[in-house]
Amino acid sequence: MCCSFPSLCFFLVLLLSSAAVIPSGSAADNHSNASKQLKPSPETATPQSSMVQSELDTLFRIMEIMSSDRTWRISYPNPCNPGSSWTGIECKTGKNNHLHVSRLDFGNPPNPSCRAAAIFPPEIFQLPYLESAFFFHCFTHSTTTTIAMPASAVTNSSLEQLSLRSNPSLVGRIPAQLSSLKSLQVLTLSQNHLTGKIPLQIFLLRSLVHLDLSYNSLTGALPYEVGNLRNLVGLDLSYNSLSGIIPNSIGELGQLQKLDLSSNSLVGRIPSSIEKLTSLVFIALSSNLLRGSFPQGLTKLVNLQYFIMDDNPMNIPLPQEFGVLVKLQELRLSNSGFSGTIPPSFSQLVNLITLSLQNNRLTGGIPVGLSSLSHLYHLNLSRNFLEGTVPFNGSF
Ligand SMILES: *[C@@H]1O[C@H](CO)[C@@H](O)[C@H](O)[C@H]1NC(C)=O
Ligand SMILES: *[C@@H]1O[C@H](CO)[C@@H](O)[C@H](O)[C@H]1NC(C)=O
Ligand SMILES: *[C@@H]1O[C@H](CO)[C@@H](O)[C@H](O)[C@H]1NC(C)=O
Ligand SMILES: *[C@@H]1O[C@H](CO)[C@@H](O)[C@H](O)[C@H]1NC(C)=O
Repeated sequence: MCCSFPSLCFFLVLLLSSAAVIPSGSAADNHSNASKQLKPSPETATPQSSMVQSELDTLFRIMEIMSSDRTWRISYPNPCNPGSSWTGIECKTGKNNHLHVSRLDFGNPPNPSCRAAAIFPPEIFQLPYLESAFFFHCFTHSTTTTIAMPASAVTNSSLEQLSLRSNPSLVGRIPAQLSSLKSLQVLTLSQNHLTGKIPLQIFLLRSLVHLDLSYNSLTGALPYEVGNLRNLVGLDLSYNSLSGIIPNSIGELGQLQKLDLSSNSLVGRIPSSIEKLTSLVFIALSSNLLRGSFPQGLTKLVNLQYFIMDDNPMNIPLPQEFGVLVKLQELRLSNSGFSGTIPPSFSQLVNLITLSLQNNRLTGGIPVGLSSLSHLYHLNLSRNFLEGTVPFNGSF
């Protein structure tokens, strides 16, 4: 697993550490080896159980659209039955001992690969017991212009997790009809070629726990309505072209642990309401056009471990308040026009592993206290106007 972006690394860490709190789906895109978990266990199905014919037909239609395995229908006539099920399918036993498809997983070995002509199969919304659907690196050749969703098809869907990740030929807008998936808890549309504004209807999905729309070309503002998603634990809108301010309503997301808005064109200040996000562990706001002072209440975010905010035209003195955020492991404030001295309070950040302050206009000496930060591993103070002696001895 590649960890070249800090936020991605963190997301993995967060997933591992919060596996108990976050609903099953959000072990988000763990495809590392799905084969074990995708076989129905003997307890959930008996040899007498079978699928409803209409559901079986729908499943075969989906497989025909998606898969390059042309013999699937013959090899797996009873795709949910224990012992003869295919990787990539998980089933559950329902009423009358019927087996129902509860999870479909395409694109990542050992799950079924997607054929070059694969397009998004709206039929998944006709599988009334489907809880999770994953399409990873699936739509790579045939342009699929939108996530086609006939409104009539989705009314009976009980989908809790929908993940379409890394699909270069998935283009067009995010469909407003996604809002009819009332049970949705995890929506991942990362690393596609989606464009246009985020439809306001997305913010009607009040069950959402994780929303990841990162690495697309989404435009427009981050709407005020984002504050409706009171159950959000993770919000990642990084690497898009969002403009406008960060709405004050962001403070309504009281469960939020991860907020990543990096690499957009957001302007203005960090809203003062951010002080209400006391569960926040990770915040990344790098590479935007944010400026002005930090909100006073930032000091209330005592659970913060990552504050990543490089490359913004802040142009203010470096605030000493960061010194109270003692859980911080990573503090990045490079290339943002910070002036003044490095506050001695930074020496209180005993858990700090990374401190990036390079490319600012900092003056004065390096606080002696920094040398007592025993976990500090990455320290970059280059390209400033610092002077005096470097207070680190050999052991540091
Ligand atoms: C991913 O799945 C593998 C095998 O199914 C498992 O060993 C691992 O713990 C899972 N990782 C996460 C983050 O859930
Ligand atoms: C997945 O697990 C199975 C059974 O443990 C193993 O045979 C297979 O090699 C694994 N595949 C991957 C991609 O890790
Ligand atoms: C939804 O479910 C109801 C009851 O199970 C059924 O009568 C109806 O046809 C279903 N609608 C669709 C669009 O599948
Ligand atoms: C520190 O920052 C400077 C300026 O951006 C950069 O050239 C250098 O590679 C950085 N050093 C380390 C060790 O990351």
